[in-house]
Amino acid sequence: MKALVVGNGGREHALAWALLQSPNIEQVICTPGNGGTATMNNCHNLSLGLDDFAGIVKAVKENQIDLVIVGPEIPLSLGIVDYLREHNIAVFGPTKAGAKIESSKSWAKEIMTQAGVPTAQSQTFTDALAAQEYIDQVGAPIVVKADGLAAGKGVIVATTRSEAIAAVAELLGENSGKLVIEEFLTGSEVSVLAVTDGKTIRPLLPAQDHKRIGEGDTGKNTGGMGAYSPVPLVTQELMTRIEQEILQPTLAVLNQKGIDYRGVLYAGLMITPAGDPKVIEFNCRFGDPETQVVLPLLDTPLDEILLACVEQRLEQLPALEWKSGSAVCVVAASGGYPDAYEKEKAIAGIDQANQSGAIVFHAGTKKMQLEQQEQIVTAGGRVLGITAVGDDFNQAIAIAYDAVKLVQFVGMYYRRDIGHKYR
Ligand code: AMP
Ligand code: GLY
Repeated sequence: MKALVVGNGGREHALAWALLQSPNIEQVICTPGNGGTATMNNCHNLSLGLDDFAGIVKAVKENQIDLVIVGPEIPLSLGIVDYLREHNIAVFGPTKAGAKIESSKSWAKEIMTQAGVPTAQSQTFTDALAAQEYIDQVGAPIVVKADGLAAGKGVIVATTRSEAIAAVAELLGENSGKLVIEEFLTGSEVSVLAVTDGKTIRPLLPAQDHKRIGEGDTGKNTGGMGAYSPVPLVTQELMTRIEQEILQPTLAVLNQKGIDYRGVLYAGLMITPAGDPKVIEFNCRFGDPETQVVLPLLDTPLDEILLACVEQRLEQLPALEWKSGSAVCVVAASGGYPDAYEKEKAIAGIDQANQSGAIVFHAGTKKMQLEQQEQIVTAGGRVLGITAVGDDFNQAIAIAYDAVKLVQFVGMYYRRDIGHKYR
């Protein structure tokens, strides 16, 4: 079988890598891919834009691709799945209508209310004055969210009233003119990525992201500086509650609305101090970097799961099989990220890190000619996801950080405390 992965991040490298672990997969093409997918065996890139749907259809036909997997939310929210399905292409991912669960926070809240899913109390506003009155009524801390996709920059957790009022001005001005203002939740954040064929929904192992740039979860929010899986806090009993109280009722409401959702429903959860799961947000895709720790633990061939979703026979698929250990991913970022940073720095030591027992997933990298040589260079804020699987967290952390020390590029920054909670 041949697969095509749309996207160019660490998530997409991990998807391509996991597909190539399967005995069923002979080749993977990535559009546009990155330096990692350009250099993996049986994998190559085609330089097509994420919104070049016609180009992707042409590539699928020319290369006799059997299955397309869409990584990022932007093409999903633009309707890539609707377009590919019209061309009779097997594609894993929700339609534009389903992707709205991520692309509109107010709509996601409506779905949660209808489904009776536990989430932060909230209200939607288009008017700054009404938003201000609500903030005065509820008080700080309070969370202000832009309604639409904002690449991780649309959420402001305001600790004071004046921060909240400033957040309203900033987010109303820059976005679709719609805001969701919600209750501040406390507890531990967990990501549960669940696969669904629109009828049945099955969670993958839970993971935890490290969103802040600094050690001890301090400083600015980022796309994610590392992750680990599974999450000891999420017991079997809690996972059953997440399935019954959150995943299944949400899918049922999507169904009632006539939405044919075959992809990942990613629940970003807060586990409250009382131990109850509440939804912070839904995403319509695999998480990044969560995918980089979840897929290396998966023993069931990934293509079998994705095809069962696309062909709507997930119920018949045997229980998913997992390795018994733990996985940790440490993100190596460009100095300065999440603010401005430099690009095109040569990266050394990737082969040595791979040989040491880690898996180096590329995120912002590309292959280019530098000093008369073809080299892998930095091309984004998050550059590499250096991942390791171990018998336990101690072992996974040791392998991952030993590998991190083998990698070098000018300005490289990483957090030293990924997964340390469970060491
Ligand atoms: P998001 O972009 O929706 O993932 O939000 C970014 C981060 O903001 C989340 O990972 C949380 O840490 C935080 N956040 C969002 N909503 C809430 C909330 N209601 N209560 C507390 N923290 C929140
Ligand atoms: N890890 C956060 C996300 O994928 O949205």
